[in-house]
Amino acid sequence: MTMIRLRNIWKAYDKQQVLRNLNLDVDKEETMVILGRSGAGKSVTLRLIMGLEEPDQGEVEVDGFMVSKMSQEERFDKIKHVGMLFQGAALFDSLTVGENAAFFLTQHPDLTTHKWLSKKEIDDHVQHALELVGLAGTGAKMPSDLSGGMRRRAALARLIAYRPTIILYDEPTAGLDPVTAMTINELIRNTQNELKATSVVVTHDLRSALEVGDRIAFHHDGRIIQVASRDKFFEIDDPNVKAFLDNTVLPERIVNGRNHA
Ligand SMILES: Nc1ncnc2c1ncn2[C@@H]1O[C@H](COP(=O)(O)OP(=O)(O)OP(=O)(O)O)[C@@H](O)[C@H]1O
Ligand SMILES: [Mg+2]
Repeated sequence: MTMIRLRNIWKAYDKQQVLRNLNLDVDKEETMVILGRSGAGKSVTLRLIMGLEEPDQGEVEVDGFMVSKMSQEERFDKIKHVGMLFQGAALFDSLTVGENAAFFLTQHPDLTTHKWLSKKEIDDHVQHALELVGLAGTGAKMPSDLSGGMRRRAALARLIAYRPTIILYDEPTAGLDPVTAMTINELIRNTQNELKATSVVVTHDLRSALEVGDRIAFHHDGRIIQVASRDKFFEIDDPNVKAFLDNTVLPERIVNGRNHA
């Protein structure tokens, strides 16, 4: 079953044509990675799925809702179960880590029961989310007391606490050292298992793509030019994909059979 369907999407800013006839289908409960160079239009694509922006042409369908034809109000009502980890993963600096994680729950009723949670229930959700990201016991800390990797995990906890069933990640590992990046990739996989979510992960980090993705979509020149399962990605016969791979160095054990001679 298709959860997210992008059809013939065109999007320009002023004179710059960013998306040109972009198409993408994401299946229920899969993790789709969108891989592409900086400036390719990956964040714009996520903002369209999230309903934060509208395409100039084309259709965006999320969980059966044609979000590109809805008013902003209707969109926020119908696709509340879509959560996004924004690029840079900004936390609310004046709130504690725990208050950050509780934020959506204090603003919206529960996604499944449609009832407002009690303070105790919110606390439980927050504790669970913090445990899941390895930040148990840091609820009272301020974001400024955390390292960059911890802040990224706290932002992930804020997302998980809300239990969205469609999760969009914008560059979740950017700017992190390889070890911390690896823990974030693991968290993305754990979150996927725990929430049975449909996920889209935008990245220009090939290693992260291979670790979290069921399928990888290659974004180039305003379109998705190739989609392949993780195992088949290196077999894609496309000059643009090859050029991208040739400029990326990966440790041997992940490359799995690809020869870097
Ligand atoms: N709100 C906006 N107003 C004007 N131009 C924009 C806007 N948002 C994006 N753009 C332009 O669209 C292009 C694609 O931007 P986008 O942020 O989607 O790239 P990206 O693939 O996410 O890159 P990165 O990997 O660096 O995050 C860029 O040239 C950017 O300057
Ligand atoms: Mg971006």
